[in-house]
Amino acid sequence: MPRVVLVGPPGSGKTSTGQALAALLGVGFHDTDAAVEAAQGRSVSDIFVVDGEPAFRELERAEVARALAEEDGVLALGGGAPVDPGTEAALRGHTVVFLDVGIADAAKRVGFDRSRPLLSVNPRASWVRLMDERRAVYERVSTHVVDTAGRSVDEVASEIAALV
Ligand code: S3P
Repeated sequence: MPRVVLVGPPGSGKTSTGQALAALLGVGFHDTDAAVEAAQGRSVSDIFVVDGEPAFRELERAEVARALAEEDGVLALGGGAPVDPGTEAALRGHTVVFLDVGIADAAKRVGFDRSRPLLSVNPRASWVRLMDERRAVYERVSTHVVDTAGRSVDEVASEIAALV
């Protein structure tokens, strides 16, 4: 069982904060997007374009279920993973941290390049819409909410290390 699971929208720093947190705690780091990419031998973006979002969500759901059961240390989920009802249920009983972030900080982190298929058209407006739709889910699944606004990865990682 992971020591802590990180959730939040694209650009909330799940991967960078997760790596810093894992180093602070002296545990491993696992990222479900990276695991799906490694297993498939192609990028998330390629999976979306070639097979479609539902196919990606199926791979993601299976990887999240496996990681919740088998990984320890720090686990970062893809931004849309908690929206799946099965994943939301599977997160119960885990220590889950929602990295809260606004559009300005998220835009600085992700740069809104083409690697995020859901943000490739009107990236800022799409991000705001996704966050509006998902905020309630992120809040529901999390045991802790950490405000990342204007804070460095190391500051956020230290705050989480003190919580878990
Ligand atoms: C997605 C977020 C991405 C990736 C995929 C879909 C989403 O992960 O899983 O592009 O639905 O928000 P990041 O949150 O790491 O960007």
